[in-house]
Amino acid sequence: MLAKLDQIEQDALEALAPLTTEEQLEAWRVANLGRSSPLMVVFTHLGQLSKEERPAIGRRANEVKGELEAALNAKNEVLQSDALQRALETERLDVTLPGRELPVGRLHIVTQTLREIARVFGDMGFQIYRSRDVEYDEYNFQLLNFPPNHPARDMQDSFYIEGSVDPDNPILLRTHTSPGQIHAMREITAQYPHDPPPIRIILPGMCYRYEQISARSEVQFTQVEGLAVGHSITFSDLKGTLSDFARRMFGQSVRSRFRASHFPFTEPSAEMDIECFVCGGEGCSVCKQTGWLELLGCGMVHPTVLLNGGYDPHKYTGYAFGMGPERAALLRHRIEDIRYFWSNDLRFLEQF
Ligand code: FA5
Repeated sequence: MLAKLDQIEQDALEALAPLTTEEQLEAWRVANLGRSSPLMVVFTHLGQLSKEERPAIGRRANEVKGELEAALNAKNEVLQSDALQRALETERLDVTLPGRELPVGRLHIVTQTLREIARVFGDMGFQIYRSRDVEYDEYNFQLLNFPPNHPARDMQDSFYIEGSVDPDNPILLRTHTSPGQIHAMREITAQYPHDPPPIRIILPGMCYRYEQISARSEVQFTQVEGLAVGHSITFSDLKGTLSDFARRMFGQSVRSRFRASHFPFTEPSAEMDIECFVCGGEGCSVCKQTGWLELLGCGMVHPTVLLNGGYDPHKYTGYAFGMGPERAALLRHRIEDIRYFWSNDLRFLEQF
């Protein structure tokens, strides 16, 4: 039996020497130290040996087991250090390779345009006033001189919020930034009811209209409103300020014109166009052969609106205007479709 153990040891060590992979090592462990290996069979038959034989055979079997385990561990270490060595040689770090570029974020094109507009008006002394996106019908329409069923409401159908308490004053997503005019005026006249100070603000923000989506119209878009109220403000101030804005925004040589229009909350009202900067006024496909591009709506604040804001129309006058930065950006960058702005396609956004 002792000779058999010597043989088991010798065979196992010989089989171990040429192995080169972890899988082979595991197969060797199962074959030589596993439950049905020849060595383990010796252990299971120890009980059948005579009392005299058992101690010597048992001791030798334990010795062989210890040696095989030690040989396995040693071989394992050799294999692992070989693998590490190979990895160090083949996967060497190339420090001369350029690093991976981190994607750097940027401002959305509409935010860039809004900031540009705010910078130009900021230089002219206008402050920014923020107003809410969700409004009462009263502020979005009634206080701006759109009584219920007024036909001008058809131009600005809205998204209504379910659960409005008063059916005559439903809650809706604002269709334009003009309700902010009333909030701003009321905020100031609440503080200074007898002699309210003048106002010179712009009101940027998101607007919502329930309308057909097309290359020029979205259901969600931004507007920048402007409001100036004070003593002796005239239509000349409006024209001068907006013409100067157009020159600062689109180039010193750009010409502008005002066309009569109608808004219920301004009187008189106008649309302002700028000379087409693609064709220089000659007429092209961008300006539909007119030589002019529509930029904004404007007018003198209607006396009723001043009154609704708390300003006495006998003492104060004012002008207001409203423009769409997306449409301005469409013109400026010759983008064909307004839907690109909010569809979150990085291929579009990364160009600006
Ligand atoms: C108004 O909304 C008025 N509140 C503007 C105003 C303010 C007039 C103060 C007088 C005094 P209008 O509906 O024309 O007017 O919209 C103004 C601008 O918002 C348009 O010139 C356009 O640039 C933008 N706009 C309107 N509807 C959309 C739309 N569906 N998608 C994208 N931009 C739009």
